[in-house]
Amino acid sequence: MTTPTVDRPAAYRRTHHCNELRLDHSGATVTLAGWVNSYRDHGTGLVFIDLRDREGLTQVVFDKADASDELLSAADKLRSEDVIAVSGTVRKRDGGPNPKLATGEVEVVASTLSVLNKAKTPPFQPSETEGLPNEELRLKYRYLDLRRPKMQKILRTRHRVTKLARDYFDENGFIEVETPILCKSTPEGARDFLVPSRLTPGEWYALPQSPQLFKQILMVSGADRYLQIAKCFRDEDLRADRQPEFTQIDLEMSFVTREDVIEVMEGFVRRLWGDVLGYEVPTVQRMTYREAMDDYGIDRPDLRYDLKLHDISDLAAKTDFKVFTGALGKERGVVKVICVPGGAEKLTRKITDGYSEWVKTFGAGGVPTTKVGVDGSLEAGIGKFIDSIAKDLVERVGAKPGDQLFFGADTYATCSKALGELRQKIARDMGMIDESKWAFVWVEDFPMFEYDEETKRFYAMHHPFTAPNPDQVEAFLAADPGDRETIEGIVSAGYDIVCNGSEIGGGSIRIHDSRVQTKVFELLGISPQEAKEKFSFLMDALQFGAPPHGGIAFGLDRLVMHLAGTDNIRDVIAFPKTQTGADVMSDAPSAVDETQLAELFVKNLPVPTK
Ligand code: AMO
Repeated sequence: MTTPTVDRPAAYRRTHHCNELRLDHSGATVTLAGWVNSYRDHGTGLVFIDLRDREGLTQVVFDKADASDELLSAADKLRSEDVIAVSGTVRKRDGGPNPKLATGEVEVVASTLSVLNKAKTPPFQPSETEGLPNEELRLKYRYLDLRRPKMQKILRTRHRVTKLARDYFDENGFIEVETPILCKSTPEGARDFLVPSRLTPGEWYALPQSPQLFKQILMVSGADRYLQIAKCFRDEDLRADRQPEFTQIDLEMSFVTREDVIEVMEGFVRRLWGDVLGYEVPTVQRMTYREAMDDYGIDRPDLRYDLKLHDISDLAAKTDFKVFTGALGKERGVVKVICVPGGAEKLTRKITDGYSEWVKTFGAGGVPTTKVGVDGSLEAGIGKFIDSIAKDLVERVGAKPGDQLFFGADTYATCSKALGELRQKIARDMGMIDESKWAFVWVEDFPMFEYDEETKRFYAMHHPFTAPNPDQVEAFLAADPGDRETIEGIVSAGYDIVCNGSEIGGGSIRIHDSRVQTKVFELLGISPQEAKEKFSFLMDALQFGAPPHGGIAFGLDRLVMHLAGTDNIRDVIAFPKTQTGADVMSDAPSAVDETQLAELFVKNLPVPTK
């Protein structure tokens, strides 16, 4: 492929973008530059191209009657995605307006054409109307994919969100500070990405899972209010809303309570939704972690629909139904039910059997079901086994004839997980989600710690720097580490903000008292020696005048997903990673030279074959 020489660089000095020309411009001489979006020769003496740039499309016409042979011959060779500049005269469209285009009332009659660069036939057309290829191919040729108007729009939405963040927080007294990328590991619960140090062989940096400790240290430094659009790195299993490398809008404030943080952050969410979507976010409702788990089986409930979980353990205990009595015999055993309005008709036997299999992935044995008959009796499924409680049950959950009931009978944790997931699946399957709705909720009063039965130890529910709720600090300091019940009852000063079932931000009031921090480390099984090695800088800082402080981090990618209306996180990141953490365009990760490794005193171990 030869690249035509551009003999007149001024040829691509454009006068307008491709979305600008209107009838008012008729008669004007203009220059446009961009990519050939489409080429049409209807054999009518006219050749049409749609020229595309970042802003839009304009129709360009080559009139065989008027154009020179040279111009026509150049136009004839144009192919999609060639990069060209065209000069010509604006006129009212001959063939009538195209209402789909902002420039649809006009066309440019070309007088000169400069082919700035020829393009090979692209593996797919980056135009919205063509069927898209699989995502792997789109990611391999990401530059073509990003040319699509939808992707260009998302890039801009993302820009707008970061700009609004900078503006809003600047107005509220926050200053932007950059924190290091090469740092010591911060425990946010995921695995670290590590970088070997050449200058101190055998030692490693970790890429930050978040700037958590640095932002706290900035508060000790007197920064008072901090903002950063921060890159974070977590080596964890990927999901539709997770990337190994993602961005946070990271914030920290001094001399604040939870209410102060929530007020400022809610104002930001209101600004975003208002500015980007013209939607006025009402006061965001609050819910405790316990309420969320009890009613929805998940700590990030989607409140666009109801479908609550009802605890019917007391009624279940009155039956002889083995599934129920067996569950209630377990430690923390419960029986819960979801009532699906009108489900009896819409959810066929095949579907409900499918659900029973599906919940097994979440550790449940199945999901017994029954339906409410016209007279309020329970028909089919497990109805006959629980007939004795039918009346009370129907009353408890407010069920109506034609409703379908799904039961969970297991430990509280398994039952919540299985029914919480099932609730979402049913809502999707039955089209119960009003996609035009926004349902925000602050979830708060999380337990400080979660006990893991497998490893027999406590884990921090948010991160180890989250403070207990102010009224529980003394109780926490006095608690015996072996007293599981008391420890599990300590509630943290943490909060998450959830939008339509997705966690868009999470934060907390932090520990600023080194006694509390030491106790948290002790409970997490971090020995004084390990705490000193890993966090002595933090422990020192806490003893040199740390103000009370707290903050939050919003997931920028997730915010943009909502605002751009996509449920795929890769759509909102210019160069994302695939499910296996690969960048298929640049082919990362990839092997490196042995000499590079030798310089770092690093050796590859053989990879075990499966
Ligand atoms: P947390 O771990 O809750 O808190 O993260 C804050 C927000 O970041 C987003 N997020 C992610 N987005 C995409 N891919 C990921 N892998 C990913 N992981 C998290 C979520 C989440 O709500 N240092 C604390 C914040 C604080 O306490 O101030 C932290 O990182 O939207």
